[in-house]
Parts: sequence; C-alpha cells; structure tokens
Amino acid sequence: MAELRAVDVADPAGVAALAVEIRADLVVIGPEAPLVAGVADAVRAKGIAAFGPSAEAARLEGSKTFAKDVMTAAGVPTARAYTCVDEASTAAALDEFGPPYVVKNDGLAAGKGVVVTDDRAAALRHARECGRVVVEEYLAGPEVSLFVVTDGEAAVPLLPAQDFKRVGDGDSGPNTGGMGAYAPLPWAPPGLVDEVMADVVHPTLAEMRRRGTPFAGLLYVGLAMTADGPRVIEFNARFGDPETQVVLALLETPLGGLLHAAATGTLADHPPLRWRDGAAVTVVVAADNYPGAPRTGDVITGADRPGVIHAGTARRAADGALLSAGGRVVCGTATGPTLAAARDAAYALVGGIGLAGSHHRTDIAAAAVDGRITIPR
Ligand code: AMP
Ligand code: GLY
Repeated sequence: MAELRAVDVADPAGVAALAVEIRADLVVIGPEAPLVAGVADAVRAKGIAAFGPSAEAARLEGSKTFAKDVMTAAGVPTARAYTCVDEASTAAALDEFGPPYVVKNDGLAAGKGVVVTDDRAAALRHARECGRVVVEEYLAGPEVSLFVVTDGEAAVPLLPAQDFKRVGDGDSGPNTGGMGAYAPLPWAPPGLVDEVMADVVHPTLAEMRRRGTPFAGLLYVGLAMTADGPRVIEFNARFGDPETQVVLALLETPLGGLLHAAATGTLADHPPLRWRDGAAVTVVVAADNYPGAPRTGDVITGADRPGVIHAGTARRAADGALLSAGGRVVCGTATGPTLAAARDAAYALVGGIGLAGSHHRTDIAAAAVDGRITIPR
C-alpha cells in the first residue's frame, strides 16, 4: 500500500520531519535536486537510513567541473575539457577540439543542458545562455549506462543498459532526458563491467573517500565506448530515466534490501544479485513539442496496463480521467526471452496508447537487434 504525502521533495527539513513522523525504515531519494539540496544528510541526521549521497558527494552530478576534477585526481578516463566563463575562452576551447562541439551547462540541467553540434555559432549561443560551461572533446562510440549501488566502499554493478538521448529516429534532433532504453547489451565486450568497476568506479569512490566526502547511493556512469576504450561522459548521483525501467525489470533480487544495505554500510554482506534471463526494452511516449515546452492536459487512453510506467500523468479531479502532465508522459516497458521479443512487446504496449499529438521513437533497440552496433577501432 502506498500513500502519497504532500511534501516538497527538495526541502531537507520537510522530508526529514515526514520520515520521523511515519517512522520510515528507509528513505530513497530519487531525483538530483533533493540530493544536491542535502535531503539525504537531513534524513540521516535524524538517525534514519537514507539511500542517496550527501549534498557534498552529489556534486559529482551537480557540477560538471567538480566531476572532471575528481576524475582527473582519480585517473579516470574521460574527455579532455575546459571550464569556460566567457566568450573568448569558450571560442578558444571550441577551436582547440574542433567539431562536433560539446558544450555542457556546468550546473544541474535535468539531462538537457548539453549541446552537441557541428554548428559553432549554436555552440557559442548555448554557452552564452548557460553562463558557465564545460567545453569538451567529442567522444565517438556507442554509449553505455552502468548503474552502481554503493555504500561508499563496497560497490555492486547492475546490468549495463543503453539510453537514446536524441528525440528522433536515427539519433536526430535535440537531446532529451531519454526516449527509450534496453538491457542487457548484446554487443558489449565481455569484461566491460569488470573493467569499468576497476578503472572508473573504485578509483572514483576512493577519491571521494580521500576527500572526506564518501559517495554512497547510486553512481550512474555514462560511458562512450571509444576506439581508446570506455570513456566517462558523465556521472549522475541517482538512477537514470528510462534505463532504470529496463534494468529493474530484469532484477529478481528485491530492490529494497539492496538499497537498505547500501544505506546502512552493509553492502559487502549482501548476497549476489539474481537476474532474469532475456532482455527488456522501454519506449517513451512524449507529449507534443517535447523536448520543448510540452503540451499538457490531454486525455491518455490505454495506459492502465501492466508494463506502462507513468512519468508525466495526472488524474482529472472531476472524473478521474488520466491526463498528460509532463514532457515524457508514459513509457511502455516489456521483457522477453530475446531482445527482439522484448522490443516487439514494448512497441505493442506503445501502439495501444492514445495521446493527441504525442510522439515516440520507432528505432529503440533496433540496431542492437540487427547486430548493427560496433565499437570504433
Ligand atoms: P550528459 O548530460 O553529460 O550525459 O550529456 C548528454 C548527452 O550528450 C550524452 O548522453 C551524449 O549523448 C552527449 N555527449 C555528452 N558529452 C559528450 C562527449 N564528450 N562526446 C560525445 N557526446 C557527448
Ligand atoms: N537517462 C539519462 C538520465 O537519467 O540522465
């Protein structure tokens, strides 16, 4: 049984008071804004277990410059980068790296603060709008999202997944929060997860401990599989959307016990994870005009089915009708014995959803099913 309570999720004192009131055994903090605001610290200060990093440690996501600094100190492979605060230094960095240009807002941007473009003027414009940016070298190669549950010391990887960031088929159009995902990755080299744990995750956790700000929670490692090996594109301090839908669809081990172990520093004693055989695919149904300001308030049909996971929906008070209330509205998530079967099942769910003006990608997991994903060499 779940009960929805009105609390400002980014208000540390408010969330901590609610946790005390309901005598919570575990508080799981989902999005980045409350983590950066220190909600996990406030809950822990009341003696209640919280899954999610401290405000200090959440800077791995909250500041691109901070993340680069930690990676450099830890010797983690990532794109070369400059932090720029004015037009001249931005232009110099763009010209040093050449196109495609990668310009990232230095603060939190809910996955949408990044512009990757061949258009130098557009890159400069984005930098001007952001103020403080990180300009970095372009990493060529397929992307991997690896989620790692950690108590600051012990670390348990989940299955690697792939996300689709661009709004349109064939990776066209602007970046979004993510339009679909699948797991596991049939094309991933054997040993990839072990390599990332050894070269990225453990050095990063060690560096965070060394700084006196251990990272406990979910370390999301976004990687590009380049000709020179896996390179970190970004860290997030939370589960990613929509990769989580496919990763958790395959996890048989109860999630609560795993997160509780991470929150209480006992992850080393947690039994190995059990995974379902087969694959999972999720396809996001987005509102008209997303990733621009989305049109909302339209009636959604066909979304009351198992496997349809809601993100931007609301109930109309008058009659309980389901309405769109955000950019990414719902996603159709399915598992299957093969990636192809999971993909067909996910698209069958999406095909049954009615929402005026909505759009979705038609090629989620298609290249992986067809064996068309290759790592550059
Ligand atoms: P981020 O918010 O840092 O994950 O960036 C969002 C998306 O932009 C990534 O998932 C990539 O698709 C793309 N991107 C970011 N940085 C780079 C890079 N250095 N090289 C190539 N693509 C990138
Ligand atoms: N799927 C990318 C993110 O959650 O940031």
